[in-house]
Amino acid sequence: MRKPIIAGNWKMHKTTKEAVDFVNTIKDQVKDATVDVVICAPALLLPALKEAAKGTNISIAAQNMHYEESGAFTGEISPLMLNDLGVEYCVLGHSERRQYFNETNESVNKKVLSALSHGILPIMCIGETLEEREEGKTNDVVNEQVKAGLKDVAANEMEKVVLAYEPIWAIGTGKTATPNEANEVISEIRNTLVKLYGEEIANKVRIQYGGSVKPANVSEIMSQSDIDGALVGGASLKTDDYVALVKY
Ligand code: PGA
Repeated sequence: MRKPIIAGNWKMHKTTKEAVDFVNTIKDQVKDATVDVVICAPALLLPALKEAAKGTNISIAAQNMHYEESGAFTGEISPLMLNDLGVEYCVLGHSERRQYFNETNESVNKKVLSALSHGILPIMCIGETLEEREEGKTNDVVNEQVKAGLKDVAANEMEKVVLAYEPIWAIGTGKTATPNEANEVISEIRNTLVKLYGEEIANKVRIQYGGSVKPANVSEIMSQSDIDGALVGGASLKTDDYVALVKY
């Protein structure tokens, strides 16, 4: 059985005080959650969030990292810095990073390999544009992202990888893929994992859906056979909504 994972992706929102208040407000309400509870936060909030989440079941994720341990990379943060704080997960290859910060399948792959070698669990994002969907290319695009992003990831590491299928046209737009549409693409992703790693491993990998998930649609999304969680942007910013998502 795959343990569901609900992750709030705060993107570029919240100050340190707001982040700490958020954790203090939700921590008792989510303590009996049956899912993995994750907050993906801007780098500057990570130390205070790790401190606030100490002794709770809330895991903290970075939203990006460089693949090198150190070096002349102004503005970047490294896996060693995340290790230092005890950050458990890192979102990699989010479509906003691919779109605005020139991330490619190749750079995402380097980051996935680096995260795994530093004991950081990658949440690797994939998803098609509206144009690609309309041209019937969804599966091709997503499968290519999966294959290229996971290149050289060893079979015994795959269980640690979380994939997040986020159709770009559904992010922040209020348009969700129907649960059925999302499940179809996610099953196709799992088929690709079967081809790459065999059935046993493919069945252990958690694949989230993301794109306009909110309290009103989360349970239907989570009831789909191949969907193991949600990566939630806008609706993860308010404590009540976040708690409702975790308790879908
Ligand atoms: P959204 O964002 O829930 O606001 O659509 C999802 C994401 O980008 O991870």
